[in-house]
Amino acid sequence: VEAEAPSRRWSVQAQKSVQYEIALIDGLLERGHPLLGPSPRPGPARRFVIVDEQVGRLYGGAIRDYFDRESVHCRIFPVAVSEKAKTMDQVSAIAHAVDSFGIDRYREPIVAIGGGVLLDLAGLAASLYRRGTPYIRVPTTLIGLVDAGVGVKTGVNHGLHKNRLGSYFAPCVALLDRRFLATLGTRHIANGLAEILKIGLIRDRRLFDLLDQHGQLLLSERLQGHSAVSDAVAIELLDRAITGMVDELRPNLWEQELDRLVDYGHSVSPTIEMLALPHLLHGEAVSIDMALFTAVAQRRGLLCAAEANQIFRTMHALQLPVWHPLLGRKVLARALAETVQHRGGRQRLPLPAGIGSGRFVNDVAEDELFMAAEELRDLRGPTCLAG
Ligand SMILES: NC(=O)c1ccc[n+]([C@@H]2O[C@H](COP(=O)([O-])OP(=O)(O)OC[C@H]3O[C@@H](n4cnc5c(N)ncnc54)[C@H](O)[C@@H]3O)[C@@H](O)[C@H]2O)c1
Repeated sequence: VEAEAPSRRWSVQAQKSVQYEIALIDGLLERGHPLLGPSPRPGPARRFVIVDEQVGRLYGGAIRDYFDRESVHCRIFPVAVSEKAKTMDQVSAIAHAVDSFGIDRYREPIVAIGGGVLLDLAGLAASLYRRGTPYIRVPTTLIGLVDAGVGVKTGVNHGLHKNRLGSYFAPCVALLDRRFLATLGTRHIANGLAEILKIGLIRDRRLFDLLDQHGQLLLSERLQGHSAVSDAVAIELLDRAITGMVDELRPNLWEQELDRLVDYGHSVSPTIEMLALPHLLHGEAVSIDMALFTAVAQRRGLLCAAEANQIFRTMHALQLPVWHPLLGRKVLARALAETVQHRGGRQRLPLPAGIGSGRFVNDVAEDELFMAAEELRDLRGPTCLAG
């Protein structure tokens, strides 16, 4: 009998605490925030500022003026953003520039200013640079304010896959200023309203009602609040959207729980968005996905016809699409399969159950999805699905 080889084992268990603040500040570049300012060490304070190229064109002067006033030497690094160019190459270019700045990562947090693409790129670069360099997020789009800017995910697209490479890396602070939205195109405001609609539909009826009643005004005023009433609506909308998002993310920051209500709108949309590039914006793909699963929910009796129609009407008023020619049998089957693989072997599809709450299902057949898509195809504006 052969003697058993001696074996030894080691195990490691560790915990890392995460703490960061999300602050809504009107007029950030006038009012500032302590972390944007001088670092607690002798010598001149410095910041490496990664800026969405378009934001740099619009706000570069104001950003420089801000840092000048604070006596901070800043190097602004502009990045041309697009979903197609959201790649590892861009992350490498950022890392190269951070390197040449010679950042002191204990005292000089990177500042990232831009939309969701810029924040995802800069966040990934920060998480990789020396295995983690603190960074500050300053979102400048509505998707950034209510979604990409408030969580801990970073990422780039890889191959045909959306956000296939990425990390979980919390910023030291996220500073949200709706004044940046004043220069954002209407289509990008609608894009962000889609993510807000998501939170309304699966967990906050009042948020949905705000969009339902004031959607067009929010869109045309870009949440700037030109009257006392519309200002109050914009503030409540942002407050509820961010609170809802953070309440969903906080207990599941690393996404170990795979049943996630915030995945509503994100089941088939990653595949559709990538296949449709560059024609669909993220929020538009999310809207199509939400409409699709609204139709599934109605077919299953989770929503009545009046509720489903109210949802479609709101999407229409927000200038969001409910259907796309890619919603054919083959693409839907592939998108569903990819989601199942991504979600640990089960569908875990969040459906609205009434407006303002959600429920998970695991038994949606490809046929059922296709039939729901066919119903949406015939939907033109605020018309009715058969009840
Ligand atoms: N990490 C996350 O948790 C998370 C969450 C949601 C979305 N995302 C990602 O975010 C991306 C979408 O973000 P997005 O919708 O902000 O798109 P985006 O970053 O491409 O910005 C949209 C456009 O607006 C321009 N822009 C940005 N700020 C502006 C301003 N204030 N005024 C005028 N123009 C401005 C940009 O140059 C760009 O052309 C997607 O890649 C998505 O995967 C990430």
